[in-house]
Amino acid sequence: MKNRVIDLLPLKIDLETPVILKKTIIANKELGILKGIIKTIPNQNILINAICLQEAKDSSEIEAIITTHDELYQSAISDYETLSQTAKEIQNYREALDCGYNLLRKYGFISLNHVCLIQQTLEKNNAGIRKQCGTVLRNINTGEIVYTPPQSYDEIVNLMNNLEQYINDSSDDVDPLIRMAIIHYQFESIHPFYDGNGRTGRIINVLFLILNQLLDVPVIYPSRYMILHKGEYYNRINAVRLNNDWEGFIIFMLDAIAESARLAIDTIERILVVRRNIKEKIKNKFAFYSADLVDALLLYPYTKIAHFSQQLGISRQTAASYLRQLEDSGIVKSKQIWKTKFYINTELFNALVPASYEVPDTKTMIVTESPANIYSKSKN
Ligand SMILES: Nc1ncnc2c1ncn2[C@@H]1O[C@H](COP(=O)(O)OP(=O)(O)O)[C@@H](O)[C@H]1O
Ligand SMILES: [Mg+2]
Repeated sequence: MKNRVIDLLPLKIDLETPVILKKTIIANKELGILKGIIKTIPNQNILINAICLQEAKDSSEIEAIITTHDELYQSAISDYETLSQTAKEIQNYREALDCGYNLLRKYGFISLNHVCLIQQTLEKNNAGIRKQCGTVLRNINTGEIVYTPPQSYDEIVNLMNNLEQYINDSSDDVDPLIRMAIIHYQFESIHPFYDGNGRTGRIINVLFLILNQLLDVPVIYPSRYMILHKGEYYNRINAVRLNNDWEGFIIFMLDAIAESARLAIDTIERILVVRRNIKEKIKNKFAFYSADLVDALLLYPYTKIAHFSQQLGISRQTAASYLRQLEDSGIVKSKQIWKTKFYINTELFNALVPASYEVPDTKTMIVTESPANIYSKSKN
């Protein structure tokens, strides 16, 4: 497939077409509602935790790392070393998102170095920006090479420096959501790493929203929309390259943001209902009620005695006794898996798992294929 030279940013075309502007208004409106709802919630960690886990699951599914919600929530409270490879990948994504969020909060910008740290956390190797040539993007279902990103290290660094500047300098006055879409296309086209470019690019999307104060915390998961429309997502990227169809790509990204914001709002509303119900039930029934206890139960849909005792700073015996009593009154349900007894907050679990979880499209799958020696050398 023909490759086009990657243009430096800012683009010299007017992207504020009527359709794009209309979609921008809708997406901004949804983000505004989301930002407002989050402000009303006392313990935001509950949301960040739940929604980051969802995003980790969904973003990894584009890379065909499929996991169940049960495994997702069990692994969130298990020792990393004991996890399956799939569960490790998901936890790595989540750690990478946390890493990016913490760097952004600390420094107030998104540097190239931060992007490298995010990808390093995700991939658990320090191969960094591609130095060796040979990386291509392949459709693994057809074997076809769909795109060959820049091969020279100098060219990649040059384009990444330009992108870093564009990310952090908003003087061109274009709506941040349009800029986010441009940044995503640019990042995926440069494809600076041997692997993990898709997921790193999607983390940058969320961080960019926070950088521009469209959100305060990473509680949106656009990857879900992207996996559900994966074929279209890939086609839209290609159409920019082949037909200069920026409008189609930007509209796709704006729809992804609006839809993800709506989903986040729904999830938060469901979590709030669960919170109210659980609080009422415990308050009416148990002398050990405290706000911290309710929060601890809401932070993880799956918990276990050791984890619960640590969260609340109580002994294992006390934690075990509380969980047993909560189980007797139907607030949690226990489940023995191997040697571990998990306690599931079923109501929360159901609130987090969308009722109709559509199966992702696995017919199309585009992956980065890099020289094998680099990959095996740098993986640990
Ligand atoms: N034609 C294309 N041009 C540039 N990037 C693409 C194209 N098609 C897909 N992509 C991006 O490449 C990603 C796959 O790259 P990869 O490095 O394997 O990322 P990850 O390992 O995180 O999935 C896709 O998720 C998508 O974001
Ligand atoms: Mg990959």
